[in-house]
Amino acid sequence: MRLDKYLCEAGLGTRTQVKKLLKSGVVAVNGRTVFRPEQKLSETDRVEVSGKEISVSEFEYWMLNKPDGYVSATEDRTFPTVLELLPEGARGDLFPVGRLDRDTEGLLLLTNDGKLAHFLLSPRRHVDKVYYARIRGEITEAHVKAFEEGLDIGDEKRTLPAVLEILPKSREKDAGASEWESRESEDCTPEAEPEIRVTLREGRYHQVKRMFEAVGCRVMYLKRLSMGSLRLDETLAPGEARPLTEEEVKALKEETGC
Ligand code: URA
Repeated sequence: MRLDKYLCEAGLGTRTQVKKLLKSGVVAVNGRTVFRPEQKLSETDRVEVSGKEISVSEFEYWMLNKPDGYVSATEDRTFPTVLELLPEGARGDLFPVGRLDRDTEGLLLLTNDGKLAHFLLSPRRHVDKVYYARIRGEITEAHVKAFEEGLDIGDEKRTLPAVLEILPKSREKDAGASEWESRESEDCTPEAEPEIRVTLREGRYHQVKRMFEAVGCRVMYLKRLSMGSLRLDETLAPGEARPLTEEEVKALKEETGC
């Protein structure tokens, strides 16, 4: 790997910032000051910045607040991909863990840890995914029951039981409403679009939209709030990303047994 790329991946800044760092003469490889960004490193080379050894961790984990309009893929011919939203210093081998539809917003995990991704997506592990949605059509207790029983959405098997919660209408919310509920409804919810939260234990293609279609309704807006223990950081504006904290990574690994 090139030295400048290595320094970027170690979190020392963008390519431009790293070039400046090299110019200032604080970077040493195996005890010798190096100025050339293109210098190649081998596995055993020891890199120091201002006398402190630095290393690149094997895995990176990023939380993205996915905005509308981006595809959850590493490349696409027509639309921008979620990878384009990561900062310049992020590793080049990251991929999204599962897919959100192009028009779905919210929590998306990006990593290069294939094992963790596999465990999080495995249909046998039933990692909970929580979504907020606005729906066209009336939602009643009958829908709650139907979701609980599992639905025929045209696949071989019915869906696993899902928890559907009808959120109180914005103006009826009491002071004790959770942060999620009150934040989501800050934007003017059209009167005719009930707000719901749904918890799925699986992740089939277009699953939330297909479940609502199966009961005669339509999803008008969809946002993922959490996946397992990982909860969307609401301080991230749509399109913003941040690395997961050590605690967040630890909790995900613990719950998947990775
Ligand atoms: N279900 C959907 O219908 N779309 C998504 O993006 C995620 C879950």
